Order: sequence, then structure tokens, then C-alpha cells
Amino acid sequence: TSQYTRDAAGCVTVDSVPVTELAERFGSPSYVVSEATFRARARSFREAFEVALRPLGVDVAVYYASKALLNTAVAGWAVAEGLNVDTASGGELAVALAAGVPGERIALHGNNKSAEELSLALRSGVGRIVVDSLAEIELLAGLAREHGLRAPVMIRVTPGVHASTHEFIATAHEDQKFGLSLNAAADGEDSPALQAVAACLDAAAALELRGLHCHIGSQIFAAEGFGQAAQRVLELRETVARRWELVLPEIDLGGGHGVAYTAADSPRDVAAIAADLAPLLAAAFEASELPVPHLSFEPGRFIAGPSGCTVYTVGTVKTVTVSPGVQRRYVSVDGGMSDNARPVLYDADYTAVLANRVSEAAPVLSRVVGKHCESGDVVVKDVYLPGDVRAGDLLVVPVTGAYCWSLASNYNWLPRPGIVAVDPSGRAHEIVRRESVTDLLARDTGAPRP
Ligand code: LLP
Repeated sequence: TSQYTRDAAGCVTVDSVPVTELAERFGSPSYVVSEATFRARARSFREAFEVALRPLGVDVAVYYASKALLNTAVAGWAVAEGLNVDTASGGELAVALAAGVPGERIALHGNNKSAEELSLALRSGVGRIVVDSLAEIELLAGLAREHGLRAPVMIRVTPGVHASTHEFIATAHEDQKFGLSLNAAADGEDSPALQAVAACLDAAAALELRGLHCHIGSQIFAAEGFGQAAQRVLELRETVARRWELVLPEIDLGGGHGVAYTAADSPRDVAAIAADLAPLLAAAFEASELPVPHLSFEPGRFIAGPSGCTVYTVGTVKTVTVSPGVQRRYVSVDGGMSDNARPVLYDADYTAVLANRVSEAAPVLSRVVGKHCESGDVVVKDVYLPGDVRAGDLLVVPVTGAYCWSLASNYNWLPRPGIVAVDPSGRAHEIVRRESVTDLLARDTGAPRP
């Protein structure tokens, strides 16, 4: 069910709060997040996989990939719904800790973690550190010894499964920076992934090797890629068991579960994806003599994306002639690539609706653009909007909850919008306040005085 409806006056509401009221109280543009939707998606993801995989005897844990959207409020919602939190930097880790997330429910990722980040993770007692290189294993083992601690470790492997809709977010190709390959560089050599296992076991007093991790990409709609990746990772688990008589208890299959940005996307229901994955996993488990592992997943976009939207105010409206007889209407809004970089970065499609009123005017093919000094500054490439859209109207762009705030910039010194949360009882409050010009100047220390 959606958080959006229209009230009697024709205004779009978010969990029954009219966006006109939100824009008046909190300004424009604003990100608006539905707490109920965020929590329902977190819960439904966890429950779908629990229900589908329970018959296989598999325990499921879900780590919210906080890179999609992180502040102390949403971290709290994820945890309240029984999820753990996946972080990818010391900053994300610090925010999760500030939200009161217990260390053991946090995972730390990254292909180039610093000693400071690893030390913070150790001191905070994070539940897992996902190591990504042989050098990192050595660094982490040294730090763990210094702290007199044993670090819980997962090894990120590259299963070589191609399962993404866009090359920039495909992370399972062999030729990329993440993970350790399952393929040996030369005959008779161990694969980098096996070398990593050996390195962790050599440092067993400092590192507790808990399992294997993989992440095959993002915005994925089918279960097959996850099934294939699981199979490859389970083969490595077999090899480890044969060579070291050690059964790794945990497998993490990463995130990447897709969402519908526009009507052109037709994602399967999460219960269907989980149900599709179950027989693929069952087959992979059957091929193995080992007890079934604990499984975990790391959805980010699936939970955060549809929970949020952006409310913009329309400014300039212009009609230009594209070619003789062909016109395009440009509808400028008060934000753009600084609050949603995804169209520029990934050619991502969004849609927009006239939100403060309903209009009988005939729809006109429009391009919603931002206010930045770049012609590529597009919010929605092609959308039919009523012909009478004018300055002062509000547009809502849905599904901006993931990777919009987190990729936001101050380009052209635009203050970043705040995040408004609407709670389940229909109360709205700012969970991240809008930036001010004072914020923009806060770190500008000026030229040194002679
Ligand atoms: N786990 C790992 C190890 C990841 O690298 C990622 C995403 C996730 C989980 C969560 O993936 P999700 O479920 O959100 O697809 N900025 C890009 C997406 C980058 C994703 C990077 N890693 C975008 O806006 O599309």
C-alpha cells in the first residue's frame, strides 16, 4: 500500500499530511519520508525471507544497507523492525552508533577501510567486519591484537555473477575493485578468496572467521543471480571444509533488490523473490554435505527508496522547439542534481506529479529540470504534466528515498534540503534539518591574513 493519496482539495498527501502543508512548514525542496512505509518495507523484507527460507532450516538476518539513507531516526526504525545495520565507512558507523544501534548489530564494509575506521569498529564491538583484501586482513589482525580483541570477520568474495541493470552499479564483475576472486590467477595457485581464508585462519587468535559475503549488484528484479552467487559461495565453503575441516557458519548474499521508479519498472513482490530464491538455495544446499549456513541479506534501496519522495516548487516554465514542429516544455524546479544526482550519474528515470492541485488541462510532454548551471541537470527526462503547470505549483517526485539524500551535494552552493518524516499518526517533523547559508559558510575559514 502506498503512503500517497489526494485529499478533498486535490492535494497529494503523505500518510494523510498534505504536501502543501509540508512545503509551508518545512520549505522547498524537501525530502519527505514515510516512517510507516519505511518500517513496513523493512519488516516485509525480513518476514518474506524468514518465511521462504525457514522450511530449509535457514536462519535469516537482514542488515539495512544504510548507504541508501542514514540518519539516527531511520537507523532506529530499521532496528525497531528487527534489522541490523550495514555501514560502509567510519561516518556511517558513527551515525549508527549515535542512533544507539548496539555494536553487535552493525556490520562494517568497504574496500579501503582506514586503520581508524577498523579501530572504531573494534572498539564498538561491531558484529562483523567484511574484509575485502589480503592487506586488510593483515591490518585488521594487527589492530585486533593491539586492542586485545578478536574481530568477527566475513570475507567478501567476487562470485562473477553479472546481475545489474547499469554498469556503474554492477559489482560482481571480476574486473572491479570489490572482493576477492574465486578464480586462481594461475594454475596450481589458490584463488585470492582461498588465500584470504588461509590468512584469516593463520591469524585465528585475532580474527574469528564467521563466513563469506558477496554482493552482485543493485536494482535487481530476479532471483537467479542471487541463486548463482549463493552456489559459488557455497562451493568455496565446501572447499574450506575439506581443506581445514572448518564449517563456516554464515553466508551473506548482499543487497540489490530492485524497486519501481516509474511504470516501466515491474519489480516482483519481495515475497515472490524470496519464494523464487528458496528452491535455488535448496538445490545448492543439497549439493553440499555441510549443515545449512545462517543467511543474511543487505537491502538498502528496497527499504528506503519507495519510502521517500522529494517535494519541489515549480519556477520557470519554458517551451522550446526541438525540431520543426516538435516542442518540449522545460519545467524548472528549485533543486536538481544537487539533491538527486541519480539521473546524471546513472541515467536514472523518475516520474513527477503535480501535487498541490488537480488540473483538467491537457497533459503536455515535459522535462523537469533543476536550477544548476549544467544542461544535464535533469530531474525527470520525460513526463506528461498538465498544460497549465505554473510557477508556485508543487511537484512530487516519488521513490527518492534511496541514494538521493546520501548522494546530495552543495553544487552551486545550494543548501541541502532537510528530511521531513511523517510518523504513523500523521505528524510531520524534521529528522534532518535543512541547511542554511550559515551552514554553507561554517567551514570557510578565509584567506590567511598576512
Ligand atoms: N551491500 C553491499 C555490499 C553494497 O555494496 C550495497 C550497495 C548494498 C548492500 C545495498 O544495495 P541496494 O540493496 O541498495 O541495491 N548509488 C547507486 C547504488 C550503489 C549501490 C552500492 N552498493 C544508485 O543510486 O543506484
